[in-house]
Amino acid sequence: MNTTLHMPQQSRNESHLSIQQEVKGMIDDLMASLPEPNSLTSEERRGLIARYSTVLEGNFIYWMTASLIAVKSDEAREELLENLHEEVRDAHPDMLRRFAIAAHAFPTDKDALDVNDDLTKMRLFLGKLSAVQSLTTMAFFEGFIQRFMGYLAGLAAAQGSTEMEYTDVHGVCDIEHTEGLFRALKSEMAINPLAEGQELYEGARLLRKLMEKVIFNDKVLQAA
Ligand SMILES: [Fe+2]
Repeated sequence: MNTTLHMPQQSRNESHLSIQQEVKGMIDDLMASLPEPNSLTSEERRGLIARYSTVLEGNFIYWMTASLIAVKSDEAREELLENLHEEVRDAHPDMLRRFAIAAHAFPTDKDALDVNDDLTKMRLFLGKLSAVQSLTTMAFFEGFIQRFMGYLAGLAAAQGSTEMEYTDVHGVCDIEHTEGLFRALKSEMAINPLAEGQELYEGARLLRKLMEKVIFNDKVLQAA
């Protein structure tokens, strides 16, 4: 796998713009590290879709809710609520489940257990309810998801699927969501800054590691 991934430095006083650039850099690096679809076997494609599904279906709304509980600014609250409203109203977990089933990639117990350790770290991290860290993490998440949709759709198509509502919707709506989350982050930082000793990108790095596990599974372990 790519070993030149961004390693963001800790900073309490980092400007909003530089945070945006850093997060974008982390997403760029992760996207650049994606394996060539043609190099994957059918089972590898299935596993990737299944691990993505097992992480996202049951946790995206949970983690967005954790961020909502943590924030104090009205702008951040509004942004997260709007996002959650859309998730629930349009039944995004159902969309994702249909996507996985149609690609013959509904997660097995092994798929769920493959991501279990890194998933647990994310759950415990978001349980700390640290607003600025959580918003940075979710901005990374939304930004990555949006960029990842074309790749994911390609894998599903290679598995014989034509069910693309999930990837179609998220390749578009998450552009606005990502921008909204950066605006929310700016508002939150103004009234509820990072506490002494906290690392801004702690959650984003944990999430990047989880996404690497989703993408590479055992190959990540070999490279570690
Ligand atoms: Fe969604």
